[in-house]
Amino acid sequence: MSSTVIGTPLSPSAVRVLLLGSGELGKEVAIALQRFGVEVIAVDRYADAPAHQVAHHAEVIDMTDAQKVRAVIDKYEPHYVLPEIEAIATDALEDVERDGIAEVIPSAKAVSATLNRERIRRLADEELGLPTSPYLFAGSLEEMRRAVESIGYPCVVKPVMSSSGKGQSVLEGPDDVDAAWEAARTGARVNNDRVIIEGFVDFDYEITLLTVRAVDPATGKLATYFCDPIGHRQVSGDYVESWQPQLMSEIAYGTARSVAARIATAMGSGVRELSGRGVFGVELFIKGDEVYFSEVSPRPHDTGLVTLASQHLSEFELHARAVLGLPVDTGTVAPGASAVIYGRHDAEGIKFAGVAQALADPAVDVRLFGKPESFARRRMGVAVATAPNTDVARQKATRAAELVQPLLADADEPSAPTTVGPETVRIAKQSPPPSGPSPSGPPSSGPPPPGPPPPGARPPGHPPRRPQPGPPPPPPGRPGPGPGRPGPGGPGGPRPGSPPPRPQAPPPPR
Ligand SMILES: Nc1ncnc2c1ncn2[C@@H]1O[C@H](COP(=O)(O)OP(=O)(O)O)[C@@H](O)[C@H]1O
Ligand SMILES: [Mg+2]
Repeated sequence: MSSTVIGTPLSPSAVRVLLLGSGELGKEVAIALQRFGVEVIAVDRYADAPAHQVAHHAEVIDMTDAQKVRAVIDKYEPHYVLPEIEAIATDALEDVERDGIAEVIPSAKAVSATLNRERIRRLADEELGLPTSPYLFAGSLEEMRRAVESIGYPCVVKPVMSSSGKGQSVLEGPDDVDAAWEAARTGARVNNDRVIIEGFVDFDYEITLLTVRAVDPATGKLATYFCDPIGHRQVSGDYVESWQPQLMSEIAYGTARSVAARIATAMGSGVRELSGRGVFGVELFIKGDEVYFSEVSPRPHDTGLVTLASQHLSEFELHARAVLGLPVDTGTVAPGASAVIYGRHDAEGIKFAGVAQALADPAVDVRLFGKPESFARRRMGVAVATAPNTDVARQKATRAAELVQPLLADADEPSAPTTVGPETVRIAKQSPPPSGPSPSGPPSSGPPPPGPPPPGARPPGHPPRRPQPGPPPPPPGRPGPGPGRPGPGGPGGPRPGSPPPRPQAPPPPR
């Protein structure tokens, strides 16, 4: 294996990366790649998508059409293809990978497994033995009725092909069955009547454990690295705010890492050497010391936007490095939080006032995604903040997100800065993180020992707790921000020096 060589963009020596999906997460990945002098081709189904605006080339195609996906790959001959969304013709990716035309990140297998809740759930449970909620699948209303009776109430019904909470329902009793079936059919991404019925997990809190599979420079082989756990709050299946680190008990944290390592390791193709590289967003529900695997994104995760502020290398920079075979560092530099800025209008070409007010606090930063069209509930930007603890970081991020005011294109800008009363920031109390060693220790080359056996069905009669109003009082224990790292300097502040260059890394496939 030779070391990574990066050429000059727009020249024959260029390393080319093609993004399938060009949203806000792709935009940050594109920027991270641009900083390494990688040539970036951004593809989406609509023009002027966020990553289109920062790429060398922009293409608009129907990404569910296998021929069009193949045609755009043939046109640019990228070394790497990075799917950024789920709705992609995965058969085209399988061909591209099999024929050695480009490397699919993390692998065509991972992209098609995570496209469908049935495939990823069966992989997690039946092949890997990971703890999950009890579940069944159904392809008709009658079948679903029987499955729901067997799982019990409350339970959650989701189309197998859907994301962002679309078509999902929580069922409290038999009266909810018909409506849930209808919601699943109309909310699914594709015309597919299949649903998953999951036992409702009455979790204490939920996390995203960003897990990175990257080349360990010491061995030249893939190793597993973990970011500090990210806590988040979901409303109607969409993330509203996230924070890092989420405190966890030692036992839950150990199990979470074990589960995350096993699912991430299973995401390689098993054929190509160093396949399965990249960042994975492993979604876990935590109840006491028990950990339930929920789902995994084979790419950076929206709740991981907090890492733009809280980590030395954001999840996007980690992804870019992992793809290129470069060393990674998953450490947290300061407790941080992110809060979503919604469009609040259904309109094109909206404006944002109040950015200066939001940035008056030097520990705050704002990203506006530049989406050409806004919807009231569309994510148009994000505010991130750092602070001595995540409570304060959440308050700062939430306040900053509220200060940014989306306006219609023809609206007058507000004459006075918008002020937000303290009553608008309602955040559950969270104890400050203890000073403890960072969990982002040395990489482990294989999965840690297995966690506890799959938990059984939830006890009947337990009151549902969804959505979570805020994080629960966390149990004491790790993780806290790592020692010896710079304190809260705020985003954009000085960063510690990068690790020295190391020799071993995978070359582009050709
Ligand atoms: N079985 C479950 N028990 C409790 N809450 C759930 C369950 N499944 C999903 N949720 C809640 O709904 C959110 C979205 O569900 P998820 O399966 O992650 O769908 P999506 O693919 O749309 O993100 C989760 O983050 C969690 O808050
Ligand atoms: Mg999810």
